[in-house]
Amino acid sequence: MTVPEQTQSEHDLVLVVDFGAQYAQLIARRVREARVYSEIVPHTTPIADMVARNPKAIILSGGPSSVYEAGAPAIDPAIFEAETPLFGMCYGFQLMAQGLGGTVSATGAREFGRTRVHIGQAGTLLGGIPTEHNVWMSHGDSVTAAPEGFAVLASTESTPVAAFENVDRGYAGVQWHPEVLHSEHGQKILEHFLWDIAGCRQTWTIGNIAEEQIERIREQIGEDGRAICGLSGGVDSAVAAAIVQKAIGDRLTCVYVDHGLMRKGETEQIERDFVASTGANLVVVDAEKQFLDALAGVSDPETKRKIIGREFIRTFEAAEIDIIKDAPEGSKVAFLVQGTLYPDVVESGGGAGTHNIKSHHNVGGLPEDLEFELVEPLRTLFKDEVRLVGEQLGLPPEIVWRHPFPGPGLGIRIIGEVTRERLDILREADAIARAELTAAGLDRDIWQFPVVLLADVRSVGVQGDGRTYGHPVVLRPVTSEDAMTADWARVPYDVLEKISTRITNEVREINRVTVDITSKPPGTIEWE
Ligand code: XMP
Repeated sequence: MTVPEQTQSEHDLVLVVDFGAQYAQLIARRVREARVYSEIVPHTTPIADMVARNPKAIILSGGPSSVYEAGAPAIDPAIFEAETPLFGMCYGFQLMAQGLGGTVSATGAREFGRTRVHIGQAGTLLGGIPTEHNVWMSHGDSVTAAPEGFAVLASTESTPVAAFENVDRGYAGVQWHPEVLHSEHGQKILEHFLWDIAGCRQTWTIGNIAEEQIERIREQIGEDGRAICGLSGGVDSAVAAAIVQKAIGDRLTCVYVDHGLMRKGETEQIERDFVASTGANLVVVDAEKQFLDALAGVSDPETKRKIIGREFIRTFEAAEIDIIKDAPEGSKVAFLVQGTLYPDVVESGGGAGTHNIKSHHNVGGLPEDLEFELVEPLRTLFKDEVRLVGEQLGLPPEIVWRHPFPGPGLGIRIIGEVTRERLDILREADAIARAELTAAGLDRDIWQFPVVLLADVRSVGVQGDGRTYGHPVVLRPVTSEDAMTADWARVPYDVLEKISTRITNEVREINRVTVDITSKPPGTIEWE
């Protein structure tokens, strides 16, 4: 089960039961957008465990297209005995219909994709919503008769019962997926259920989230505990550190390992802007030479990753040992901050509470084993919430809205051996691409925009009176929701032109700019 330590008394809890569709996380996010706290539970969770959490409502999500499908997950009828409001979506709607005595028929009609829905009687759930509108469907069988005591609210051409409610019992459902953007008025419908039918309070606001996490961390670390936080330059570790800093002040020490593989200006952003906005104690370890020496002569991508990972752990642990040695007498550095997000918690099967981790350091020096208790201030949050908390805590927009960036940094964006000279060339080209994307106002439309240096390739060009023999770079702008799949971004031609002209004019070693137009799959986002 997931994160029961969240301050439940202050928030109403909505459980989203996951039937294995990819929609459960999206539903949980939509519930939070309605300012109600939500968590995801697998459909195998016993009803008694769900009820023990005292949820204000339970949402049954989508899943296989039919309740009759072989092996389709069922729901324990005990859920209908608990007096908890229920909202069924898609498959969850059919489960409700079936479980409460309605009829689900194999009509042979299937609806996939955009479907027109007609509202006959709006009721509470569909109040104020246009009678005809488009929704996103994905189902085979249809509900042909609603359970007793339910009002039928909507239908489609092939589904006589596409939405129903029984407000007295706090029950409602829709055959479609209100959580996806293709469904018009989906958020409104969800809000009607949460606020008007289930009576959930709207307390899950960014201001509250930040305050509560700070309070929770203060309690966990106590009056005189000390903590260490590794900063990567990314939003998660920065926001996690900012929360802990607010909770325990200078008993937190942040460590930033400068491996020399960062993009232009990023190290300065941490050293200057992060520190200015949070007041955090920061130790910067300049390990560029160590990393570049270790990478000399290596071109194989996985070997590069391994070397970078190994050097990183060495460096970080050496910094930990120094911090522990320097701690005031009698105080113990016992906490390690990590920026784990809620989706990581869900995907790893939950597991609540505090964990200890052992750090078997491989640098010479003090203790044999360092044992830390983990501090995870973002454990209940989605990425978009983390960014909003970051803004709330006053972190600079460049950090809060930074695109995801791989741990091995530019080391895996140079195809071939990584050298200081090549890094400098790539840093210049990358800085131009980023600056032009920002100038065009496209940062938030693009998921990531790697610039890749084909360091072992040269091609002939002509500039002024002379021929050149320079390197190509590849621009790899992609759109994505989660990096699992991605599409190449349709960046406007004039923006691409500007980037190309500036790179070839301003970076002497580069004489060709190309754009990668491969989706993922089959391509990956990074080139190595
Ligand atoms: P790919 O290239 O597999 O990348 O489509 C998916 C996401 O993961 C990031 N990525 C990495 N992140 N260490 C990291 O911390 C790595 O070795 C690594 N390789 C890829 C990539 O930037 C994208 O967001």
